[in-house]
Amino acid sequence: MTCQISPLSQHTGAEARDVDLSGPVDADTRARLNRAFVEHSVLAIRGQSLTAPQMLAAVQLFGEVFRQHNTRFALPECPQIHYLSNQDKYEDGKRYIPGAGYHTDHSNDAAPPKATALLAIKLPDKGGDTQYVNMHRAYEDLPTETKKRLDGLKAIHVYQSRFSERKLMGLPPEAQKNVPAAVHHPIVRTHPESGRKSLYLNPIRIEGIVGMPAGEALGLLDELLAHATQEKYQYRHRWQPGDLVMWDNRCLLHKANGDYDHSQTRYLYRVMLKGDAPF
Ligand SMILES: [Fe+2]
Repeated sequence: MTCQISPLSQHTGAEARDVDLSGPVDADTRARLNRAFVEHSVLAIRGQSLTAPQMLAAVQLFGEVFRQHNTRFALPECPQIHYLSNQDKYEDGKRYIPGAGYHTDHSNDAAPPKATALLAIKLPDKGGDTQYVNMHRAYEDLPTETKKRLDGLKAIHVYQSRFSERKLMGLPPEAQKNVPAAVHHPIVRTHPESGRKSLYLNPIRIEGIVGMPAGEALGLLDELLAHATQEKYQYRHRWQPGDLVMWDNRCLLHKANGDYDHSQTRYLYRVMLKGDAPF
């Protein structure tokens, strides 16, 4: 059985077939999967039937496990895996759709996770796609003047920006000590593996730009986000049962869609992989 890898869109996403991650994977296949991940930024490995420990082993073919911040979502039997579920509610009883609104994961960490992997355990009959934005493309298309303006600018990332439209689920006290108060990351970062530049934005976590008045910073961030989230930079992943999808947080935004029948459960396992401090 030779693993087949093919693109899912013009600029973002590839699928891998004929590979079984429930057991050992040979060095050649592992190298090909890692290359495909860096080249396509989203890698959907189809047809996986994995227990929690098998998923944890599978994603470590790509790197080391990153400790996720909000421990309330940890699986009791395998706490390095967190779950995403549409059945959770905010304290006021409203349904919580994890990941709604474009963002990149845990950017308030000094060394944010390079990748996030989700394994589909239960999917609605239709809807619930994950949308991605290719931030390499978005950066490359910016006018030269804007690129010059962004050169050297750093954004201030916190757990939850006071300007965020989306509210995150509160952190339990034991998790608060793992979360830094604020970190500064460049707005344009260089991918450590491919060397390509990309925009590094996160409307849920960015609260300002170092050395810039708040009004001006928010205006600039809004303008960049509107540019980056244009349809031409998007890839929309339609989930299939058995998908293990891994994406590159260094050069993508992503968001979940709540556009499905919420009496149906949408439940996935999530693991993140350690990354470097953005530069
Ligand atoms: Fe996310």
